[in-house]
Amino acid sequence: MFKVAVVPGDGIGPEVISEGLKVLDALEETSSLRMQRTVVGIGASRYLKTGELLAEDDIDTLTKQDAIYFGAVGDPRVPTGVLERGILLAMRARFDQYVNLRPIRSWLSFSRLKNEAPFNITFIRENTEDFYMGTGGIFKGGKGRVSLKVKRSMYDLGIDMKASSSNLDDFAFEVGIHSRKGVERFVDFVMSYANQAGLDKVTVVDKANVCTSLYGLWREVFREKSEKTGVGLGFMFVDAMAMALVRSPERFGVVATPNMFGDILTDLGAELQGSLGLSASGNINPSGVSMFEPVHGSAPDIAGKSKANPFGAILAAKLMLEHLGMVDLGKRIESGVESAMKKGIVTPDLGGSSTTSEVGDAVAEYVMSV
Ligand code: NAD
Ligand code: IPM
Ligand code: MN
Repeated sequence: MFKVAVVPGDGIGPEVISEGLKVLDALEETSSLRMQRTVVGIGASRYLKTGELLAEDDIDTLTKQDAIYFGAVGDPRVPTGVLERGILLAMRARFDQYVNLRPIRSWLSFSRLKNEAPFNITFIRENTEDFYMGTGGIFKGGKGRVSLKVKRSMYDLGIDMKASSSNLDDFAFEVGIHSRKGVERFVDFVMSYANQAGLDKVTVVDKANVCTSLYGLWREVFREKSEKTGVGLGFMFVDAMAMALVRSPERFGVVATPNMFGDILTDLGAELQGSLGLSASGNINPSGVSMFEPVHGSAPDIAGKSKANPFGAILAAKLMLEHLGMVDLGKRIESGVESAMKKGIVTPDLGGSSTTSEVGDAVAEYVMSV
């Protein structure tokens, strides 16, 4: 019996998560899979009512799980960043999910590319450092002091600046940080992932030609680990990588990225497949609680319209089952997605006219039938 916390969240989050749960229900009916699910109401509605983001009670509940199944957060009624940082990034940091696995692949003829060579890439995104640590502040001239806040206990930074009399002295900053500890554990994961996948080379993305310190340490650790493990490296600057992904994604296998470039490139990768709504991700702590979610956000523009593509959420359930050791059931889900696609049961973002729940039904039906 696996214990899974379900956090549907905001916007299309609940719509797509209920399709993922439908598929998991279908698997439970037709396999030995058993799950005990606990729904946790973290998100915008609760925040607007009670002011709570990620509460201590939530953490108590989530800590006891084998995995977390997450929809999305973000709501136009709440200032941008409050829910994203206070919930999603807080969870990734609190559970030290330092790896974000984001596979993309070509699916039938849905690719956006003219070049239809099949591709299959696993983006492995560093998930707790870089520009995501909340190491920033706004210095408002004339309004006192600003301090550089660092949220993770691994660091102890504090800078105070004196007030100025003019608001022309206002400035804002957000600092990118890599720690040797943080990069080493990430690179260890990347290299063992490549080994297990039978690949002898990893493409490493950064912008070491500009942020020479931040990505200098990053490269140094990759080089050291490469010498030890024999896994080969190909460094790419992120701008050239954006170009190469569109031109010839079939060149790449495992792609390791820092946190922010990984965020950006994986939306690009998602759309190469045919739609952002198709992409899934796993926030992994190899020795803790991991969290599985679609790559997309709460999509307020289509929320409540039954238009959301549930494949990303359904494939996030696949990643969760694989992580829990049920690789065969994960494959069954992936085949279910392909089967729905072949029948043309897809949402408008993929050129179809099916509703979110019709797509979920088609996948659930398939997984029950095999
Ligand atoms: P988004 O990913 O929500 O949407 C981008 C575009 O893609 C929109 O046009 C949307 O309609 C479309 N789209 C997304 N998912 C889709 C799906 N499953 N099916 C069909 N179309 C889909 O990004 P955004 O609009 O920049 O952000 C909206 C909110 O979501 C913001 O508050 C943002 O901070 C938040 N966000 C949350 C997460 C997360 O929780 N993991 C991720 C990204 C953005
Ligand atoms: C993602 C999202 C998040 C990120 C935001 C919402 C904090 O864009 O999961 O890709 O930047 O990681
Ligand atoms: Mn993103």
